[in-house]
Amino acid sequence: MNVHHPQPFISQRPPAPAGDLPWYRFLKAVRTNALEIFPQAAYQDDVVVQSALGRKRFVLNGQDAIHHLLVDKIANYRRTSATIRILRPIIGDGLFLSEGEEWRHQRRTIAPALAPRVMPLLARHVVGAARETIARLTNSTADPVDILATTQFLALEIAARSMFSLEMQQYGAALRRQIASYAQNLARPYLLDLMLPVKIPTLRDLARARFRAGWLRLIDEIMATRLSAPENDPPRDLFDLLRAARDPQTGAAFTNAQLRDQMTTMIVAGHETTALALFWAIFLLASAPIEQERVAEEVRGVDFNPDNATEALNKLPYTRAVVNEALRLYPPAFAITRAATGADRIGAVDIPAGSLVMVAPFVLHRHVKLWRNPDAFDPTRFLGDAAPAHRFAYLPFGVGPRICVGAQFALTEAALVLAMLIKQFRITRASTEPVLPVAVITTGPDHPALFRLQSRA
Ligand code: HEM
Repeated sequence: MNVHHPQPFISQRPPAPAGDLPWYRFLKAVRTNALEIFPQAAYQDDVVVQSALGRKRFVLNGQDAIHHLLVDKIANYRRTSATIRILRPIIGDGLFLSEGEEWRHQRRTIAPALAPRVMPLLARHVVGAARETIARLTNSTADPVDILATTQFLALEIAARSMFSLEMQQYGAALRRQIASYAQNLARPYLLDLMLPVKIPTLRDLARARFRAGWLRLIDEIMATRLSAPENDPPRDLFDLLRAARDPQTGAAFTNAQLRDQMTTMIVAGHETTALALFWAIFLLASAPIEQERVAEEVRGVDFNPDNATEALNKLPYTRAVVNEALRLYPPAFAITRAATGADRIGAVDIPAGSLVMVAPFVLHRHVKLWRNPDAFDPTRFLGDAAPAHRFAYLPFGVGPRICVGAQFALTEAALVLAMLIKQFRITRASTEPVLPVAVITTGPDHPALFRLQSRA
């Protein structure tokens, strides 16, 4: 073995079951760690067929099958009733949950506000908020540090500033409290959430409706603050951009209620996912000191200020590769799930109407046929031009018409914050306890892992 290439850090995952889980264990898994529903075969085969609660479930890993589901035949596949039940109370009828013509109108109207050319405007908020967090960490005596809490705080701060230009002194605590209370209890799917059609409310749906009433009071208050300020030209945040946005085909603008649903959609879809991406990137670098020093080397001479943030990104190919590799090993959106509205056939597989069809980035990204040494942390996979095993082997943001509309923003945010943190601190784990991924709606750590931050100055 070559001494210049020490063993890479191996990312552990929970053991996969040999086959289908009995129904009671399936129900527990979707509430506590849905990674346990994927059998070992899912990491080895092209298609895995399972059934649970009287429905068939398919996990697709093949290029053509994924293309069929997420690009070609999207009209036959919709968000599942569990997704709608769980997300509608918090994100309403915004882009994520809309379908058909309504979705096309929303997508056309929103996409320009998150296009690459808008990144300098958003990156300004990222750098501003990250600077404050880093100053707080530098002056704090807390040791060790709960990095997940730090990245969650920062990602919500960035979401709020880039949407509303609001600093969160006034609303941050309330927003955090509401989102956390929802996530802890109402965002987990229970038996009836999975079994009943959306039209029939479950007891939990009643609690979710109560949550929505309080949540909208808070969001309306934030919207009112922002609406009372004059419209800005040039725009300074997503609120300005979306208020001014028009459907390029019909000229229609969003109503205030639609604007509100887009705002909550973006806060919810964007902040926890990005916080987790950052957490995992930091965890990986803390576990792999050589790779961390390579990032430190790359960022050493780079100046991060709100005016040149996107230019700084061009100087950070390795840091961006670390973010990509973190999104491979721990994709925050661990599964993309659709319900088949009509019967279909994907390759040689018959899909009955009503089946659940999944592409699971967590599984796909660790598939033994698609990745060499799949559990090893190796950012160099994303440097240079080594071709992936197939076009859809890497899908942290999905693919096709419903690909994540915030992907550019998330990647910009994660790379900038990671670079700024590593420029300031050498980060190590405070314990040797393994950290395992756990997935409920997103992929988080199984415990709040602690870290030591040592100033590099
Ligand atoms: C690392 C961070 C993120 C990850 C891993 C992620 C992942 C995803 C994935 C996989 C989808 C596709 C779901 C599907 O096809 O069913 C999606 C959709 C979406 N994401 Fe993200 N996302 C991230 C950040 C963001 C941010 C920052 C925003 C907003 C600013 C955002 C807003 C959305 C919206 C609105 C959709 C629905 C798009 C549609 O249905 O047309 N996401 N995201």
